[in-house]
Amino acid sequence: MALLSVQNETKRFGGLLANDAISFDVKEGELLAVIGPNGAGKTTLFNVISGFFPPTTGSIHFDGRDITGASPHRVASSGLIRTYQLVQLFKQLTVLENVEIGSHRVTEGGVFSALLRPPSMRRQEEEVRATARELLRFVGLEKQADMPADSLPYGRQRLLEVARALAAKPRLLLLDEPAAGLNMQETAALAEVIRRIHAGGTTVILIEHDMSLVMQIAQRIVVLDFGRKIAEGTPDEIKAHPDVIAAYLGGTETLDA
Ligand SMILES: Nc1ncnc2c1ncn2[C@@H]1O[C@H](COP(=O)(O)OP(=O)(O)OP(=O)(O)O)[C@@H](O)[C@H]1O
Ligand SMILES: [Mg+2]
Repeated sequence: MALLSVQNETKRFGGLLANDAISFDVKEGELLAVIGPNGAGKTTLFNVISGFFPPTTGSIHFDGRDITGASPHRVASSGLIRTYQLVQLFKQLTVLENVEIGSHRVTEGGVFSALLRPPSMRRQEEEVRATARELLRFVGLEKQADMPADSLPYGRQRLLEVARALAAKPRLLLLDEPAAGLNMQETAALAEVIRRIHAGGTTVILIEHDMSLVMQIAQRIVVLDFGRKIAEGTPDEIKAHPDVIAAYLGGTETLDA
């Protein structure tokens, strides 16, 4: 059985079909990339899967359960965790605190009680902190733990977002252009982090424009263009797919990896 199943998912904004009858499955343990030119509907697809808005028609099943139209909170509670195309950190909080906040889908009190710190939660809080430190080590940010999040260079803020998402213990992690704005060295570090997340057993869906990153780490690729799925296959199949080449040649982007 698929871990995630998207069936005939359509999202209409007024007259615009942002997602047009998209169907695909993701198996547990897979690393799937979703690619496509700007405006193809990739982020919309993530927004629908993660419950930010319901699809106009179609369905989303996660772990065998119908989550179509479920709230973002309920979707996250079931283990489906996302990051955002634009960095969304709590800028004034420290790097460590930002990761701690990510864990509060798995602790009892939620974000607010975590911030108020009632004594009854102290032990749980210590565990949360220890896990957060481990995750900072995992992404290579342990030395910056006590710095304000917005003092990190942009590339490191993106890694911090990934650490925060991991704190929620995802079964399925959705990454929306995590390498956007990163230099080559930062992209290589991020690729290594994603590889290790996947090797640890987490299923990953990656939206990404950096084709060399996609071709290196994705096992399978879904290609969107003007809201429709135009191709699905292995990196080699996608590179040679005539519709994919046409979609990219028609725009300013290329598949050069
Ligand atoms: N909330 C919204 N309301 C109205 N239109 C929207 C909304 N979100 C997205 N769109 C439109 O839907 C289309 C798909 O947008 P989307 O953000 O999903 O594309 P994308 O593939 O993520 O593009 P990019 O690579 O630039 O991030 C675009 O034409 C966009 O303007
Ligand atoms: Mg997008």
